[in-house]
Amino acid sequence: MILVLDFGGQYAQLIARRVREARVFSELVPYDTPVEKIASYGEDLEGIILSGGPNSVYEEGAPRIDPALFDLEVPILGICYGMQLMGLALGGEVESVQIREYGRSEIHVKDDKGIFAGTPETQVAWTSHGDAVLAPPPGFEVTAETPTVPIIAFEDRERHRYGIQFHAEVKHTESGEDILKNFLFEACEARPEWTPVNIITDAVEKIRDQVGESKVICGLSGGVDSAAAALLVHRAVGDNLTCVFVDHGLLRQNEADQVMETFQENSDVPLIHVDARGRFLDKLAGVTDPEAKRKIVGEEFIRTFEEEAGQIQDAGFLVQGTLYSDVIESGTRDAAKIKSHHNVGGLPEVMDLDLVEPLRSLFKDEVRVVAAELGMPERMVWRQPFPGPGLAIRIIGEVNAERLEILRRADAVLQEEIRTAGLYRDLWQSFAVLPAIHSVGVMGDARTYAYPVMIRAVTSDDAMTADWARLPYDLLEKVSNRIINEVPGVNRVALDITSKPPGTIEWE
Ligand code: XMP
Repeated sequence: MILVLDFGGQYAQLIARRVREARVFSELVPYDTPVEKIASYGEDLEGIILSGGPNSVYEEGAPRIDPALFDLEVPILGICYGMQLMGLALGGEVESVQIREYGRSEIHVKDDKGIFAGTPETQVAWTSHGDAVLAPPPGFEVTAETPTVPIIAFEDRERHRYGIQFHAEVKHTESGEDILKNFLFEACEARPEWTPVNIITDAVEKIRDQVGESKVICGLSGGVDSAAAALLVHRAVGDNLTCVFVDHGLLRQNEADQVMETFQENSDVPLIHVDARGRFLDKLAGVTDPEAKRKIVGEEFIRTFEEEAGQIQDAGFLVQGTLYSDVIESGTRDAAKIKSHHNVGGLPEVMDLDLVEPLRSLFKDEVRVVAAELGMPERMVWRQPFPGPGLAIRIIGEVNAERLEILRRADAVLQEEIRTAGLYRDLWQSFAVLPAIHSVGVMGDARTYAYPVMIRAVTSDDAMTADWARLPYDLLEKVSNRIINEVPGVNRVALDITSKPPGTIEWE
């Protein structure tokens, strides 16, 4: 296994995931995990990667590294902030530089034998840093440079210490995958044996250890994550699992019926349907702040599950399909909070149920592979993600029955046209948003003063970054005409052309 030490970079888990994509098991741990604990992995530990981080090494309170880590006899790769820490710890010189480099850089490889083996002499890499290594530690060789940064990579090949001042884990770094593979297979001599089957076996074992003989309930949303979590737990505990689908009134058109039908057709796990529409809408009345909405939905979900668990004797655990992207965006100790995902940052402080989250360290596309391996039908595996707080975070401002109805109808038109155009699977997500404004229009020679509807469609690999989808004009035209003609209360349709970052996928 490869251990990734998390120094708080938004891409830290992406590193672990890229390693797993190369079929080597990898786990993310906090940067201050004691060195003795790391050493206790013994022979299983094949290498360590130090992640990037938001800090400058000279900032007060910036995460530090225990220099004893470098006494371990395993290969170590430092990425960005991780490279600077390595440089500093081993006697090099690091300084804050005036030229802050962000985004695309062209790097020139000076030595193509170690970590750059088999990659081009000139290559595009994604950088993001405000500090730079001015002198490598003794025994290290500079292996790459950019026109503005003379030391963008260094290595001590004998002791297997490598540093790169760019993000090999992001797709925009041309040779990123090859560089990581060189580290894994040449430096660490790891073997590519981590497969979906192994993930399942491992998860099932961990679930059994955690829940023992206790009864378990699983919050099912209809999406691939909670369904995959349910199937994993079912493998682990069989009849001790009951699934609960909570209709919170924030679902899309006909969604509740579809979810119940699809799950019942494809699995024999008992499923309870809870109609909690009134309860959620009452709590959301008058609330406009996005974080407040998220927290209300998060809390009400848990209270509803607790009530259901109260009906089942000895139920002490709640399964959630939480993914790593939910965890990182809700803020971890070392990463900034972007928004409180209902199942992480939106959870109440005191809960009667212990959480079981078998997918917590995986990204959506990894979950899809696991789900397919578990025998889930394609329709469920490839369902576009839908956020737990549902339409509450796609209605800007107050959520009420009238606005829900408008958004539902507009969204249904969009979904239908996207599917007809054969684009559903190409898009990470496609949906409508209802802003809290009105605009003037003219329909049938009369003035209208009604809502606009915003169309949002994005492509993405993992929701950490996303690009707005270039939907065909004729599709957009059809969607616009149909929404305005078919949905009372709407007189304008607009298209959101923002990527992530700087936007997020959802509007709230
Ligand atoms: P953002 O808007 O942060 O969304 O770019 C990233 C992905 O997460 C989904 N999302 C959520 N999923 N609970 C969820 O289960 C939430 O509270 C939540 N908020 C956002 C979003 O739809 C996108 O796929």
